Parts: sequence; structure tokens; C-alpha cells
Amino acid sequence: MAILEIKNLHKKFKENIVLNGVDLSVNKGDIIGIVGPSGTGKSTLLRSINLLERPEEGEITIGETTVHLPLTRKEKKEAFELRKHTGMVFQKFGLFEHKTALENVMEGLITVQKKSKEEAREIALKELENVGLLDHQNHYPRHMSGGQQQRVAIARTLAMKPEIILLDEPTSALDPELVTEVLNIIKNIAEQGYTMILVSHEMNFVRKISNRVIFLDGGKIIEDGAPSEVFEYPKSERAKEFFAKMNLLKEPDFII
Ligand SMILES: Nc1ncnc2c1ncn2[C@@H]1O[C@H](COP(=O)(O)OP(=O)(O)OP(=O)(O)O)[C@@H](O)[C@H]1O
Ligand SMILES: [Mg+2]
Repeated sequence: MAILEIKNLHKKFKENIVLNGVDLSVNKGDIIGIVGPSGTGKSTLLRSINLLERPEEGEITIGETTVHLPLTRKEKKEAFELRKHTGMVFQKFGLFEHKTALENVMEGLITVQKKSKEEAREIALKELENVGLLDHQNHYPRHMSGGQQQRVAIARTLAMKPEIILLDEPTSALDPELVTEVLNIIKNIAEQGYTMILVSHEMNFVRKISNRVIFLDGGKIIEDGAPSEVFEYPKSERAKEFFAKMNLLKEPDFII
């Protein structure tokens, strides 16, 4: 069953056409990896799904809610619903520096979801435990490693109970030795049945956790299939070239 349906999505920045008619249907429980060269619109697509970008044309449906683009005031309520159903994890964590790990995770529960402090605290503690940071609940971001900060950011996203989790290069701002701990947490979450869309250049990781891989180029999805299919038998020259280059870089294998 489709949980997310994107139809004919168009997004340009001035003359630069970034998304040129993207169609994508995501099923509940799908773990989708989005790969492709730099500047092909991977972040733009992800950001469009929760309306951090404003596409000019197309349709986005999550569950019962459809938003027609361009967004108008008339669909304010729908836009709010769409955002509510998605949770985004950014490359740069985006934690409040003056709040502890626990307070960071509680924040959205109180301000957006209007939960009581007690309930927010209970949920936040559970999610901090989920990412293995219960013992860091009172630490401020500056006293945590990048990997730990990203895990707090993931706990914050999970606490909001989104239908779909969007992750945009969640490990690319981390020192190499911290990448694995965050990938392990993401793998854990993927196994908990969440629906996830992950943009990453950790090809081995994408290949291992995704059930479907998408390759974006020229504003469109040009490859879409099982990881083994897309990585081993890409149909397009563009993807063949890209993966060939990647192999030359010889990324260390992510051990699961
Ligand atoms: N806010 C913006 N204003 C103007 N141009 C933008 C903006 N955001 C993105 N772009 C342009 O849109 C194109 C796609 O950018 P996007 O960030 O989606 O690519 P990407 O595939 O995520 O790249 P990367 O792998 O480097 O993160 C690029 O040409 C970029 O310069
Ligand atoms: Mg990007």
C-alpha cells in the first residue's frame, strides 16, 4: 500500500530546472535509498516532500492528505498535515545548543504536539534509549561527539512519530570513526518497521539497508529498483559511469 505518492513534481531555482517531473510511489515499510551525482536534486526532492522547498507543479499525497502545487493558502491545513507526517534528519543535526539532549527531544513534543511535560519526557527518554543515549540525557550538544549529536537528532525525529523519515546525508558531517555508530542506529530504526527515504553516498550501506534504490539525474528518476539490480545492472550510462567512479574510490565496507 502506498504511503507516499509523488506525481509530476517540478522544482526550479530561477532558470535551473532541478526536478523535472518526478513520480514516486513509496510503500509502508519501504527503505528507499536515493543516490546520484552532486547537484542532481536529491536534497531538493527530500526537502520538497515536507515542503521545505516549494515546488511549482505536481502533487504530494501522504496517507489521506494531498497537497497540490504550487502551494496556496487554501491548502494550509493540508500542508501542515503533510509536515506532521514527515520527520527530517539533516546533515548538520540542528540541535538547540542551549538545551540538553533530553530537552532537545522534548521540544517538538511540547511546542508542536502540545503534550504535557511529563508525557513529553517519557517519550523522549524512550527514544533516547532507542538510540543508546539514555545516559547522555543531561548533556548539552557541545559536550557530545558529532555522532552522539546526530543520534539525539534522530531520537528527536522519532519522538514525533512521523509516518515517513527523511534523512539527508546523515553521516557526511561526521568524522570517519563516528560514521559507523550512526549507521548502526539507522539500521536499527529501519528494522523497527519505519518508512524511510535516505540520501547517502555511503553506497555499501544504502545497498545493505534499502529495499529499493533510486538514481536521480537530469531532474528525473532514471533508475528505480532493488539495490542488486540498480548497483549491478544499471540501465543508464549515467548511473554506470557514476558507480564505476564510486568503485574506484574503494569505500571501506560497512560491516553489519
Ligand atoms: N536554495 C537554493 N537556491 C538556488 N539554487 C539551489 C538552492 N538549493 C539547491 N539549488 C540548486 O539546485 C540543484 C540541486 O541541488 P540539491 O542540493 O538538491 O542537489 P543534491 O543532489 O542534494 O547535491 P549534493 O549531493 O551535493 O548534496 C543544484 O544545482 C543547486 O545548486
Ligand atoms: Mg544534497
